[in-house]
Amino acid sequence: MDTALHANDLSDVVEADRNHVWHHLTQHKPHETIDPRIIVEGKGMRVWDAKGKEHLDGVSGGLWTVNVGYGRESIANAIRDQLMTLNFFSNTLGSVPAARFAERLIEKMPGMSRVYYANSGSEANEKAFKMVRQIAHTRYGGRKNKILYRDRDYHGTTITALSAGGQEERSAHYGPYTPGFIPVPHCLEYRSQFGDVGDYGVRAALEIEKVILREGPDTVGAICLEPMTAGGGVITPPEGYWETVQEICTKYDVLIHLDEVVCGLGRTGAWFGYQQWGIKPDLVTMAKGVASGYAAIACLVTTEDVFNMFKEDPSDKLSYFRDISTFGGCTAGPAAALENMRIIEDEGLLDNTCLMGDRLMANLQGLKEKHRVIGDVRGKGLFAGAELVADRTTKEPAEEPKVLAVIADCMAQGVIIGGTNRALPGFNNTLCLSPALIATADDIDQITDAVDGALTRVFG
Ligand SMILES: Cc1ncc(COP(=O)(O)O)c(C=O)c1O
Repeated sequence: MDTALHANDLSDVVEADRNHVWHHLTQHKPHETIDPRIIVEGKGMRVWDAKGKEHLDGVSGGLWTVNVGYGRESIANAIRDQLMTLNFFSNTLGSVPAARFAERLIEKMPGMSRVYYANSGSEANEKAFKMVRQIAHTRYGGRKNKILYRDRDYHGTTITALSAGGQEERSAHYGPYTPGFIPVPHCLEYRSQFGDVGDYGVRAALEIEKVILREGPDTVGAICLEPMTAGGGVITPPEGYWETVQEICTKYDVLIHLDEVVCGLGRTGAWFGYQQWGIKPDLVTMAKGVASGYAAIACLVTTEDVFNMFKEDPSDKLSYFRDISTFGGCTAGPAAALENMRIIEDEGLLDNTCLMGDRLMANLQGLKEKHRVIGDVRGKGLFAGAELVADRTTKEPAEEPKVLAVIADCMAQGVIIGGTNRALPGFNNTLCLSPALIATADDIDQITDAVDGALTRVFG
């Protein structure tokens, strides 16, 4: 028995939404004639809309976020108890859940030591950029201020995060951008920039070295990368890539800032994506899965070395990190994050993610054998993508309206999947799957069965 609202008439809500809500990343013209879809309730892996229709959620809240699933009473209780004790105090002072969660988080991140709280992935990334810039000023006379970012990666929605974003369709028209952000090539082997080579991962990483040498190593302070690119096409790093990136960064004294906003808190089957590839970061940012969307929380985690650079000279009033985040002082975030982490641990969700991730990949490989429109399948853990192509030989991307038709067909079947969306011109052609870490074998099969049916109907 589920407890969803089935029969309530929510037509007034639909009207209020149509008349007054400006939805994220949405062209609203069609809503003049088509009802906006309102999601009313969620339980486990499923959500119900205003018409009472049940959907299996294959994308964790549409945005890789609800890692532990919907309707977790223990998280709601933890938040409620904390709010009644203390809802907020500026994080210039401490709070009980912030201290407790920081300690627990650092236990999961050997080599890291300090947690800086914020309220969104974009904000956490901005703070990392500010730290890099301040280090450039205090240590390198302002010179080592350039920050490298990678084609196809996304780091958030603010102007500076967009300046570090490798997705043209997200940044177009929002310039002028923040100076000092320099692109490096992507590492998607399926769309190799060097033809068919045996050492693609190393070659892609060495492109970073070329950029550092071109810009001047004494001007490059950091590189910001997603461990696995998410919205830019679900890109698993090719073999040899991360080892080479690490060597290059050590060689030229370039800090590694990893954006774990999607990968963090279990998505790939490890606590953090970077731990899958043995990377040693200097700064790590995280948001979505930290509290699974039960509260807004983001963290920027640094090494003790980075932290120490901001307290070396107490006589200099400008030498510490002069940054603040009002909602980084909300206590609901760390209270929810503590319980979220306990659930992942006690329910063995990392193991489940590995197991169900293998099933998801195997199912997708099966679909690739059946449907010629699937050109490539990529992923790790419960983080997968299937790139659709019009022609397997030329790898010409499938037309966007057809990709959208596949997603719409799945929705009609009661399964929510995603796709790369206003990311790269001509390449909004990758289906994205990221079910909650609690997914069962039946859930995984239901998701891939829906994709199977949709591909047959749309592409024949
Ligand atoms: C990799 C990555 N970094 C940063 C962000 C920005 O996070 P937020 O939307 O919380 O600002 C996103 C959002 O999708 C993301 O996918």
